[in-house]
Amino acid sequence: MQTIENIMTLREHRRKWQINGQSIAFVPTMGNLHEGHLDLVRAAKANADVVVASIFVNPLQFGPDEDLDAYPRTIEADKQKLDNLGVDVLFLPSVSDIYPRGLEQQTFVEVPGISYMICGASRPGHFRGVATIVCKLFNMVQPNKAYFGEKDFQQLQVIRAMVQDLSMNVEIFGVPTKRESNGLAMSSRNGYLSESQQEQASLLYSTLQSLASEIQGGRRDFGRLIGEHKKQLMEAGFKTDYLEIRDAENLLHPSHEDTKLVILAAAFMGKTRLIDNLQVSLP
Ligand code: PAJ
Repeated sequence: MQTIENIMTLREHRRKWQINGQSIAFVPTMGNLHEGHLDLVRAAKANADVVVASIFVNPLQFGPDEDLDAYPRTIEADKQKLDNLGVDVLFLPSVSDIYPRGLEQQTFVEVPGISYMICGASRPGHFRGVATIVCKLFNMVQPNKAYFGEKDFQQLQVIRAMVQDLSMNVEIFGVPTKRESNGLAMSSRNGYLSESQQEQASLLYSTLQSLASEIQGGRRDFGRLIGEHKKQLMEAGFKTDYLEIRDAENLLHPSHEDTKLVILAAAFMGKTRLIDNLQVSLP
């Protein structure tokens, strides 16, 4: 695996791949890689000639009170994992290469509507930061395919909307959420939890499962269902940020005809904010 820090060098490689007629799959990450990230790499590897992964902790998507400085950086271990899976290039740009005019001067990509609800309402500017960096990385790597986790369901839908709205020449693939054996969705932020909190935190997924089976069993009094399950989360030691049942495509409140739903949750375990979601298909 070759590690490239410089955008010009990346572009030279890109040109060679293009001349050789090789297809390129891209997996953007912020590092501290776990099996969830590696599943994206495996999917990319199985579906393209060349795989590029990136690690960049993107300051533009962190709020002023969020964990940018504390975000876990484990670059040597990450390189080893990517190399073992046969990644061709790790792109590792610096903040000044990515934002040469500074964060305040940055032209940005805004995906209205879908960016402002749910997680976007709790984290103003977050999806603008995500859409902007993903757009920039797409311009640098120019991949044919790009892989994102369903773990960050709203992020995946924001990126799909951006690609469609801006006619970007890249195919977006969603990869199912990888979980610990107790059901807890893998996340770099799980490292902030103590062992007993990690056990307790698995109740977030059980809550989503219980909600899903109630809906599949025919319940449509969503307001009441949510209320009951928020109570369950509180009793499990969570402080709920949101728990929502939405249309899986546009993330709006579902209509009676909707058959593809998604249950989305964000909740604090101590100081750590965890997110998870579960899709529900109705007959
Ligand atoms: P990061 O949190 O590092 O995640 C990188 C990719 O891995 C995302 O597409 C995310 O959805 C996916 N992922 C994380 N945990 C997963 C799990 N348990 N199962 C499956 N996939 C999982 O998401 C970001 O970085 C950033 O916002 C980024 C897109 C790189 C832009 O900065």
